[in-house]
Amino acid sequence: GLAEAFIIGEKFIDNDPCCLILGDNIFHGGNLQSFDKNDNFHLDGGAKIFAHSVSDPNRYGVIEFDKDLKVLSIEEKPRFPKSSYAVTGLYLYDNNVVNYAKSLKPSMRNELEITDLNNIYIQNNTMEVNILGEDIQWFDTGTHDSLLEASSFIKAIQKRKGKIDFCPDEISFRMGHINRKQLIKNISSYKGSEYGKYLKKLLDEY
Ligand code: G1P
Repeated sequence: GLAEAFIIGEKFIDNDPCCLILGDNIFHGGNLQSFDKNDNFHLDGGAKIFAHSVSDPNRYGVIEFDKDLKVLSIEEKPRFPKSSYAVTGLYLYDNNVVNYAKSLKPSMRNELEITDLNNIYIQNNTMEVNILGEDIQWFDTGTHDSLLEASSFIKAIQKRKGKIDFCPDEISFRMGHINRKQLIKNISSYKGSEYGKYLKKLLDEY
């Protein structure tokens, strides 16, 4: 289960707070590019989860909160969801998360549930929720249908803009993590592909 990540990653986490992002989640838009500079993504102890309104909440962890955004409960894939807000696969935790994860018992589906972990923070009154804005699209691509939907969405946007979204080489280059020489080297390994052609165009224009 997801909560096991904190036991497996104990050494890596060391004495630090940490962030878990699920590999099948796609976040698109908003100000996510400045993730590290945005106050909404800062953690002052406890834990922080990010909610998104969806039409099919029963596929996810569902958050119940009051008008002051105090989290009252999270239920994993409930038959009768208490809200339309799903817990997205982006979680921030203080360092207690490792010990909390170790204290969990496997659920009915024999997993250490992230929802059980989150409920410990809720019981301790140290869980914060941040509602992701309407300008952010969120996809959990854990089913064939949802993967296809996310692909169609990204494809349509890329085609319209003539840009590749989340292009790792472009982002690294623009942020100065790789220089022109390294980018040229990378391009040569993508020779002939659309991806390579896109980077070559970027290089010519820069
Ligand atoms: C997991 C979590 C769930 C969360 C979802 C987000 O579900 O258990 O609480 O809402 O990720 O993507 P899973 O993808 O394991 O069904």
